[in-house]
Amino acid sequence: MSSSFRKITIEDPFKICFVCLGNICRSPTAEGIFIHKVKKAGLELFFYIDSAGTAAYHVGEPANSKSQATANKHGVHLPSTAQRFEYRDLEEFDLVLAMDSENYHNLSNLDRKGLYTEKIKMMRDFDPQKGDGQVPDPYYGGIQGFENVFHILDRSCEALLDQLKDYIQK
Ligand code: 4NP
Repeated sequence: MSSSFRKITIEDPFKICFVCLGNICRSPTAEGIFIHKVKKAGLELFFYIDSAGTAAYHVGEPANSKSQATANKHGVHLPSTAQRFEYRDLEEFDLVLAMDSENYHNLSNLDRKGLYTEKIKMMRDFDPQKGDGQVPDPYYGGIQGFENVFHILDRSCEALLDQLKDYIQK
């Protein structure tokens, strides 16, 4: 999918929030991968990158140990501490990326007036291999599920950053 974004400058960095349910597995992994790619490209001054969950169960916790182990294996650090996505974040961020349809609906429900519809998108809209369009919840499964999530997010983040690069003005 090709989206249209605003101009991105160092004075006005592009703000992205990755969102899942608990903010301990999928969205912290997406955040860590995207930070890693942005740093590798030398573009860290152009982005503000964060993640959050639509539920509050795990607020204050670091990323899940299996998410961390999987990311670390691929050279990616996950810096997040779980936080809940709030209504004001819809105003704050330029792009809010839902990992699955449930997260998307939770975000849409927050946006009752429909003021921010354009900012809320599905993560796998950017995946060159769409699959079923969902980043599956790995929480209750084994390590293979976390590995699968990592690769989905790695592809999706790569394609997303590629698109956003076109809007950077140096
Ligand atoms: P996440 O995974 O949304 O990818 O962080 C989950 C983490 C915790 C729970 C569900 C999903 N939970 O039910 O506690």
